[in-house]
Amino acid sequence: MTTASDTLIDIRQVTKSYYSGNVETQVLFGIDLAVPRGDFLAVMGQSGSGKSTLMNIFGCLDQASSGSYLLNGVDTLSLSRAELATIRNRTIGFVFQSFNLIKRMSVAENVALPLIYAGVARGKAHAKALLELERVGLADFARRTPNQLSGGQQQRVAIARALVGDPPLILADEPTGNLDTQTSIDIMRAFQQLNDERGITILLVTHEPDIAAYAKRLMRLKDGRVLYDGPAMEGLRQLALGHEQQLLASA
Ligand SMILES: Nc1ncnc2c1ncn2[C@@H]1O[C@H](COP(=O)(O)OP(=O)(O)OP(=O)(O)O)[C@@H](O)[C@H]1O
Ligand SMILES: [Mg+2]
Repeated sequence: MTTASDTLIDIRQVTKSYYSGNVETQVLFGIDLAVPRGDFLAVMGQSGSGKSTLMNIFGCLDQASSGSYLLNGVDTLSLSRAELATIRNRTIGFVFQSFNLIKRMSVAENVALPLIYAGVARGKAHAKALLELERVGLADFARRTPNQLSGGQQQRVAIARALVGDPPLILADEPTGNLDTQTSIDIMRAFQQLNDERGITILLVTHEPDIAAYAKRLMRLKDGRVLYDGPAMEGLRQLALGHEQQLLASA
């Protein structure tokens, strides 16, 4: 369980189907992806293309129907629920579109929570939470409750919470989806800094090319298949050209 791998996420031929009674709906069709340590990957694709489904598999919140998934060198398919929870806690920090902070707890308590769950003593957890808050520039807000913060500040608290256990990987599903443009830029700069300066590997889902432009690498999904996987700038250029051609075709 303590293996460290240069490849944090390695999925091969992953499929996913949902069942409603006897009716099967296949959502992912043989996805291959290897994410090396230090990568910064944006995932784009139309609504329903399978982005969140894939992120849930990466996060061990859901399991693939077939294929293989190595997380930090560990074969997740062979793990029990308890073992999955352990590797998830050690390896992944989650950031959500709606921040998911607990309203009746202070900012510092929110950030400390993953450590408390992991059995770290309260004093030590609180000290680490304050350090992470300082790193995202919110040390002065530690005693407030989340509703006394702006959306961007709340998302930075969520980032501090994701990082408090020192995971090598952050998974973020539309982290700027509820934020205005300027605040989204601030959050993306924060992610970029984490990637550049602390070598944190980041995988994020977004609908917006401007947001994906902060990533090094882009994966585009279409109907549960990989349409593009490569440098972000080249992928975004192709995306823009595609839109242009659609406009011309419909003119
Ligand atoms: N629990 C579920 N049961 C049945 N079908 C599901 C379930 N979760 C997702 N789906 C279906 O799987 C497909 C992919 O959904 P997913 O949430 O991965 O899309 P997405 O790319 O994240 O879309 P969005 O951009 O709207 O968030 C959709 O057609 C959706 O209806
Ligand atoms: Mg989604």
